[in-house]
Amino acid sequence: MTAILFVCLGNICRSPLAEGVFRAQAEAAGVANRFIIDSAGCGGWHAGEQPDTRAIQTAARHGIDISGQRARQIQTDDFDRFDLILGLDRDNVRHLTAMRPDTARAKVALYLDEALGVAKNVPDPYYGGSSDFEAVYALCEKASTALLKQLLG
Ligand code: 4NP
Repeated sequence: MTAILFVCLGNICRSPLAEGVFRAQAEAAGVANRFIIDSAGCGGWHAGEQPDTRAIQTAARHGIDISGQRARQIQTDDFDRFDLILGLDRDNVRHLTAMRPDTARAKVALYLDEALGVAKNVPDPYYGGSSDFEAVYALCEKASTALLKQLLG
C-alpha cells in the first residue's frame, strides 16, 4: 500500500486535479486498492470548500468527477500518514520541506520532477482562464501516467 498526497497552495485548483486524475487512472488500471490518495493545501483559506468550479468543469470534460472533494490544509501528522507528499510547485515544496519533521515517514518532492524527471512547476491557474486549467489537466495526465507506472514498478 502506497499513500500519496498531492499538495498545492489552496487545494481547490491543481492538487484536486492531480488527485482526481491519479485516482481515475489507478481505478482504470484496477489498482486503486493499492493506494491511499489524497490532496491538501499549504494554506487553509478554502478549507471545507469544493474544488474551484473551473477545476470541476475541466475534470468533467475529461470524464472525471472531482466535485466530491473538499479542501483541507496540510497538517504535521500528514508527514507520518503518507509515503509520498508531492508539491505541485517549488513554493509548495519549500513549505512542505520546512514543515516536515526530521523523523517523518514521508518523502517530499516536486510533482513533475518525481513523475517525469522534469524540475518544473505546475503553474497556478487561479487567476487564469479555462485554457490554464486545461494546461494543468494535461500536465497532471502526463505526470500521473508516469507516476503510476513508476509506483507499480
Ligand atoms: P491552487 O490555486 O493552489 O492550485 O488550489 C489557488 C487557489 C487559491 C488561491 C491561490 C491559488 N488563493 O489565493 O486563494
